Amino acid sequence: MAAYDVIVIGAGPGGYVAAIRCAQLGLKTAVVEGRETLGGTCLNVGCIPSKALLHATHQLHEAEHNFATMGLKGKAPSVDWKVMQEYKQSVVDSNTGGIEFLFKKNKIDWLKGWGSIPSAGKVKVGDDVHEAKNIIIATGSEPASLPGIEIDEKTVVSSTGALSLAKTPKKMIVVGAGVIGLEMGSVYARLGTEVTVVEFLDHITPGMDKEVQRSLQKLLKKQGMEFILGAAVQSVETARGKAKLTYKLRKDDSEHQLDADTVLIATGRKPYTDGLGLADLGVEMTDRGQVKTDDHWATNVKGVYAIGDAITGPMLAHKAEDEGMAVAEVIAGKHGHVNYGVIPGVIYTHPEVASVGKTEEQLKDEGRKYKAGKFSFMGNARAKAIFAADGFVKILADKETDRILGAHIVGPAAGDLIHEICVAMEFGASAQDLALTCHAHPTYSEAVREAALACGDGPIHS
Ligand code: NAI
Repeated sequence: MAAYDVIVIGAGPGGYVAAIRCAQLGLKTAVVEGRETLGGTCLNVGCIPSKALLHATHQLHEAEHNFATMGLKGKAPSVDWKVMQEYKQSVVDSNTGGIEFLFKKNKIDWLKGWGSIPSAGKVKVGDDVHEAKNIIIATGSEPASLPGIEIDEKTVVSSTGALSLAKTPKKMIVVGAGVIGLEMGSVYARLGTEVTVVEFLDHITPGMDKEVQRSLQKLLKKQGMEFILGAAVQSVETARGKAKLTYKLRKDDSEHQLDADTVLIATGRKPYTDGLGLADLGVEMTDRGQVKTDDHWATNVKGVYAIGDAITGPMLAHKAEDEGMAVAEVIAGKHGHVNYGVIPGVIYTHPEVASVGKTEEQLKDEGRKYKAGKFSFMGNARAKAIFAADGFVKILADKETDRILGAHIVGPAAGDLIHEICVAMEFGASAQDLALTCHAHPTYSEAVREAALACGDGPIHS
């Protein structure tokens, strides 16, 4: 068998990016992937197909709610779920095919099958054992269910099943008000499904800035989503394609039941390392089942590295991509680096939500003196023109030095707007640096500038 400089196990955003960078750096590289297509969870059953459904259903929402106001008369389109599914699949296919093209272009071998590591320097795929000086574990994560609840991917579904339901349900219960729950809940709410979100905590989107949590919940409620907070799900029973969910309210321990056609379990994900043989290999794990690595993504076994959802940190495709590039640089003898303080998070609801850096709550806990510059999209002409004036930009800056410490956006294109703040933070910029930068008019990005101005002498349009 051919000997490689690097074999990457897993072709998700962490693994395929690591492989491409390794190849660009002159390393002979192969990737082991057992799925029929490259791209991992993100491209096949995660970020990409969900964005297709979010886009399609947003168009429907626009037709139903805003077209007439703009003088676009006529009946709103009806939904052909089968065609919408085909559109979603075509988006997936073109993206997964794109990665295959990039592998060929970069002369990366795709070793088809599920890999294991029988010993350091060896990767087994089927009956073949390949030699590799370096191995990168990039095997990602899988949905974590709740104890006693069985996911059948028909009535009780994970995010994977939720992307391909046989038909749009009349009633859906979403367990977990995290990113998956809110994105998929939005899709079905826009398609006319009665969506109820049941969340254990007393707020949605744990870890996000409180003001963002409150604002997003209000806006989603306006779109028809119901929220039951502080509720611990006890069980889900299914019979004849229907589900009965039992939950207890944490405040008084009272028990309640809800009926639905579909229950989406969106209570988080867990690292996926099954079948790799890590225990026999002696790879150290954390107590949360993640592969333990040092600051350079090296495990305790020489020549074995790990990145992405399989290790600690936020389970985000772009965090995995950054680690993929960085570990390739390390293996090639360069200086790979990831700035974990500047990793944006985006929720692709409408409006979008984006954040980076510290929340107000974190800054308070740290006892750091800060100022908050806030600007509402109500003062942004472009947002008003497209019925998207809900939400705000909030920039948090150090009280004395004015250095930007974090930013939180609810509003149009928030997931794109956040990046000018990321770049600013990478350069250690002050809020004034952003405020003094000319922003084209009329753009949503003017709201970012206005929030930066709000950290100083004040915004113009509020
Ligand atoms: P999550 O961690 O974002 O949210 C899970 C939610 O479930 C939490 O609010 C939690 O309090 C709640 N929960 C847990 N146990 C519960 C129970 N027994 N009853 C009721 N609620 C319960 O996890 P999610 O949404 O499943 O996403 C998994 C991962 O995938 C996350 O790390 C997320 O960041 C990532 N992801 C990112 C996306 C993006 O960047 N746009 C899109 C989709 C997923």
